[in-house]
Amino acid sequence: MGSLQLRLFLTYFAVIAVTLGLAALSLFLLLGGYRDSITYANLSDLAPVLEQQIAAEARSLAEAPDTADGIPPGSRLLLFVRSLIGDGSVSPGDTSLAVVDAEGRILPSGWASGIPLDGGRIEPAPSAASLRRCTLRLPEGPALLCVAVPLSEPTRAAFAEAGGVALVVAKPAAGLGDVLGDLMPRLLFSGLIGVAAALVLGFLLAQSVAAPLRNIARAARNVARGNYQQRVPATGPAEVRDLAANFNRMTEEVQRSQQTLREFLANISHELKTPLTSIRGFSEAVLDGTIDDEQGVRRSARIIRDESERVLRLVEELLDLSRIESGQVAMRQEPVDLRELFAHVAEVFALRSEELGVQLIVDAQHERLVRGDVDRIEQVLNNLLDNAFRHTPRGGLIRIASKDVGSDAVQVSVSDTGWGIPADEVPHLFERFYRARSQFATNGKGHGLGLAICREIVRAHGGDIWATSEEGRGTTFVFTLPSADRAARRDGARSSPGR
Ligand SMILES: Nc1ncnc2c1ncn2[C@@H]1O[C@H](COP(=O)(O)OP(=O)(O)O)[C@@H](O)[C@H]1O
Ligand SMILES: [Mg+2]
Repeated sequence: MGSLQLRLFLTYFAVIAVTLGLAALSLFLLLGGYRDSITYANLSDLAPVLEQQIAAEARSLAEAPDTADGIPPGSRLLLFVRSLIGDGSVSPGDTSLAVVDAEGRILPSGWASGIPLDGGRIEPAPSAASLRRCTLRLPEGPALLCVAVPLSEPTRAAFAEAGGVALVVAKPAAGLGDVLGDLMPRLLFSGLIGVAAALVLGFLLAQSVAAPLRNIARAARNVARGNYQQRVPATGPAEVRDLAANFNRMTEEVQRSQQTLREFLANISHELKTPLTSIRGFSEAVLDGTIDDEQGVRRSARIIRDESERVLRLVEELLDLSRIESGQVAMRQEPVDLRELFAHVAEVFALRSEELGVQLIVDAQHERLVRGDVDRIEQVLNNLLDNAFRHTPRGGLIRIASKDVGSDAVQVSVSDTGWGIPADEVPHLFERFYRARSQFATNGKGHGLGLAICREIVRAHGGDIWATSEEGRGTTFVFTLPSADRAARRDGARSSPGR
């Protein structure tokens, strides 16, 4: 009973078999009634004929009463009635004849039948005027179907003494068993055809559901073995097609994330290799005496220190990024005054601005407080400003601007008048390790992780970040943060009951 296909098959088969059985049963019941009505029709045809024969006999008896050898006319007539049954020429063997009185009771020995009818009576009582369908009930045994036809004048006269008023012709009702016995071979044959059809249909239907599922199971095993190219065709019923489509999506996702992981590791290795190679190179040169003058040694030590810092920074950034991505860093949810923060970062970058000859201005237009982690928001601004200073030539301008947007957010932008970024590269800026190709030297400091970290931080605050750039004119980075009152309203709605 294990496989789905077997279960489906048995289910289909059971449904079809039960339906066939019920159809056969109702057929029997209907045929039983049909048989009864045929029997009644036969009896109704037969009864008047018999009655007329009896009447003719009664008339001849009445015209020649002397021929009788002391036997009363009623008894003679009864003998005649018996003879009608006895030779089987008029009526089939299972037919019974009887004469009944006005209340429907069979006259004592007033019957001719294969079974004893003594003490029987018919329901309803016979009508004086016309033929009537009835049921003949006996003290023992099953009831018979019957019709009662009123006796005509000469016969009635013959039975006057005993009180006979009607002739009853009866036949046993066709039982379910008879009908069954009759029809069984045919029904069995058609039943077998039905069962054979059910077997084939059940198999095909079960197959149509089970086969696509087996495909998916096989594909899943392949994916587990590392074959991520695996796709399954979307066939079968809607639910199975849906499953197949989702399986394919999942496999694509796994494939993509495997690819990302591979690229990620390749990038890290690459990023580590350059500084580590120069650390080894300079330390070996000092150790084996290739560099032996004091100035050279000091220069080597400085390079080794700078390169180690570079490695350390990379490791720190990577750890930071993965912690934010995995939600391990809890962002504080405090009201933050961005004007204060702008003033602070402007102070921090003041020296660099002076050194590089690039002007930094703050143009805060917003009114709202934002809600978030002030240190993390500062990290975003630092990253964006660091990039802007690195990509803007002397004489340029960097501008931090802000405004309220919508009903509950503040938008901050950091724009520069630098070299800009080619349009086809803009969408990739926020990817890890992505560095735009630039014809201008950017003193090779970064690892391409800064903007990825910015995006994670902004998203963790419930905001969004994007960039626009025009080559030769400058770049603008924009991000949004939720205002403090939106966060407060949301928290209020959450904590107040009944909302
Ligand atoms: N203001 C900007 N002007 C031009 N290019 C920029 C600017 N900001 C970022 N970029 C490009 O985007 C890349 C990714 O930036 P980021 O993620 O901060 O990495 P990193 O600064 O370490 O190179 C940079 O290498 C640079 O090519
Ligand atoms: Mg950067």
